[in-house]
Amino acid sequence: MLSLSVATMLLSASAGFVAAQTTADSVPVTDLVGTWSTKSNSTLTGPGFYDPQKDSFIEPKHTGISYSFTADGFFEEAYYRAVANPSNPKCPKGIIQWQHGKFKKLANGTLELTPIEIDGRQLYSDPCAYKNSVYTRYKAKEKFLHYEVIKDPYHQISRLNLFKWDGAPMQPLYLAMSPPTMLPTTTLHQTSTPTPTNSKNKRSEFPFSPSALSKRSPQQLQADRWWWFGVVLTATGGTLYFFF
Ligand SMILES: *[C@@H]1O[C@H](CO)[C@@H](O)[C@H](O)[C@H]1NC(C)=O
Ligand SMILES: *[C@@H]1O[C@H](CO)[C@@H](O)[C@H](O)[C@H]1NC(C)=O
Repeated sequence: MLSLSVATMLLSASAGFVAAQTTADSVPVTDLVGTWSTKSNSTLTGPGFYDPQKDSFIEPKHTGISYSFTADGFFEEAYYRAVANPSNPKCPKGIIQWQHGKFKKLANGTLELTPIEIDGRQLYSDPCAYKNSVYTRYKAKEKFLHYEVIKDPYHQISRLNLFKWDGAPMQPLYLAMSPPTMLPTTTLHQTSTPTPTNSKNKRSEFPFSPSALSKRSPQQLQADRWWWFGVVLTATGGTLYFFF
């Protein structure tokens, strides 16, 4: 009996030590807890946006951005964006991105988001140039210089202002749900290869091609590269660090 309780004590002591160690450089984030979304409130994290079983997106009705945060350091993000096409304004490109992972708040207020690398996904559609949407992995570390949670004086709901790495504000996010709506925070995929999917997307702001990613042609790969270039220029998620 005695030895058992000593063992229990030792176990809990070491568990406490580990916990203390991993949180030593981060500070509590209770004000961030919840699911936040841009005004359209139709792009939201969770099972309504990305289906990990089918490995496919459920295209939201309107473009938008959503972030969810938990008190114990997990985040999830959902992006659905249009990229203007200056050479043909009638042909915007659409991008859907999803990733999740861990985040921490540094003592000086900076937020660091580190995704689970094999889980993130992206769907890129350039309907006027390519018949197929391109479905690939997506992983981008993000940093926000600082953030603030305020009561929006006009809408009377909690509002999250995230500031990008250069200090510029992102578009405001409003509290959509608390506690947050998120997929499981653990790793969802065994391998790093996204399964090609064939989702029949409802027609909404962008005509995402229902045809699946098959083999990517050299032109599509080229388009990808240009696309990444565009992301760096138009990134809204703080400073993006690409791993590849
Ligand atoms: C907070 O600290 C990090 C890491 O040292 C640094 O990169 C960042 O610029 C600091 N943020 C602010 C707001 O000073
Ligand atoms: C946003 O959508 C969620 C989920 O549908 C809903 O619970 C919430 O009330 C909405 N928030 C606003 C401000 O409309």
